[in-house]
Amino acid sequence: MTTRILLTTTSYQDTPGPHHELLESQGFKIVRERGPLPEDAMLDLAGEFDAFLCGDDAITKAVIEKSLPRLKVISKYGIGLDKIDVAFATSQQLPVLNTPGVNHTTVAEHTFGLLLGLTKKIQQNAVEVNDGKWQAGWKKPVGNEIMGKTMGIIGLGRIGKEVATRAKAFGMPVIAFDPYFDDAFAEEHGVKKCGSMDEVLTQANVVSLHCFLDENTHGMINSEKIADMQNGVIVLNCARGELVETDCIVKALDSGKVGGYGADVLDTEPPAAGHPLIGATNCIVTSHIASRTYESVERQALRATHNMINFLNGDDDYIQANKF
Ligand SMILES: NC(=O)c1ccc[n+]([C@@H]2O[C@H](COP(=O)([O-])OP(=O)(O)OC[C@H]3O[C@@H](n4cnc5c(N)ncnc54)[C@H](O)[C@@H]3O)[C@@H](O)[C@H]2O)c1
Repeated sequence: MTTRILLTTTSYQDTPGPHHELLESQGFKIVRERGPLPEDAMLDLAGEFDAFLCGDDAITKAVIEKSLPRLKVISKYGIGLDKIDVAFATSQQLPVLNTPGVNHTTVAEHTFGLLLGLTKKIQQNAVEVNDGKWQAGWKKPVGNEIMGKTMGIIGLGRIGKEVATRAKAFGMPVIAFDPYFDDAFAEEHGVKKCGSMDEVLTQANVVSLHCFLDENTHGMINSEKIADMQNGVIVLNCARGELVETDCIVKALDSGKVGGYGADVLDTEPPAAGHPLIGATNCIVTSHIASRTYESVERQALRATHNMINFLNGDDDYIQANKF
């Protein structure tokens, strides 16, 4: 029987690179869809495939149940697994593969794009200039330097570490919290260890989120936490939209308590018309593109494709996120 693959990730499909040739060389029947697919679309497709090569599609318990027994493996193009019911997959002995270590440079660079876009008023001013509003003298926007401002990192993993080293290069003191703190890295790079997330939030001028979304981190930035943060703090989120309570951050941007929010991710993607963060005060939103560079997509796509092919061929060179 021909092996059938469901390929849903659009950046994989739309970006040129050797992953296409690799995938097509295997003799698979490849069904291409434009993800991320919601649960109802995944349910329509489920049951006919040996493997999913997916992005942030809703792979719920119901989708997995309908996909078994034919589905042999889920190969996630990316690292975040929050849209996959990994616990249920594990209970069914269904391997979930992912691609850690391929996009940390790209996402860290994007984080600084958002930071400088906000603090130096680059986005606001570029929009004004495009609209023919080249102001004179002190009517021009005035920004802030980032040198000397404290960078607070929540989640000192692969991306958080890349943000830390770049922040040091900009002359920012760096503090961080991570429940599995890497002391050796911190010592080598002069990162101050904080014992809790709150310790970071109360001291940092810039808070950058780089942890996973799970039941502990969902809504971790809310009105109560924001109240204890520095006045005018800049919040950066290149991790997951649901880490931040949308209504709370909008309110804090309006009041000026939060001086800027740079987000590559939203709580609903794509956002419905009128999402409160689109066009919010001092807010830059990009459409989940932090890992989308030609360099990063190629690394990520090759890793996800090798993971899937190697698993299906019984070769042990693949990265499995769930253990059983
Ligand atoms: N915007 C994008 O395009 C994009 C691309 C890649 C990754 N991401 C997201 O970035 C996040 C981090 O990716 P990574 O590659 O650095 O992962 P990683 O596993 O290397 O690092 C995550 C870190 O978060 C820490 N952590 C877990 N719970 C925490 C908590 N409660 N508080 C603070 N830290 C906690 C972990 O110990 C780990 O060190 C993931 O959520 C991922 O989905 C987004």
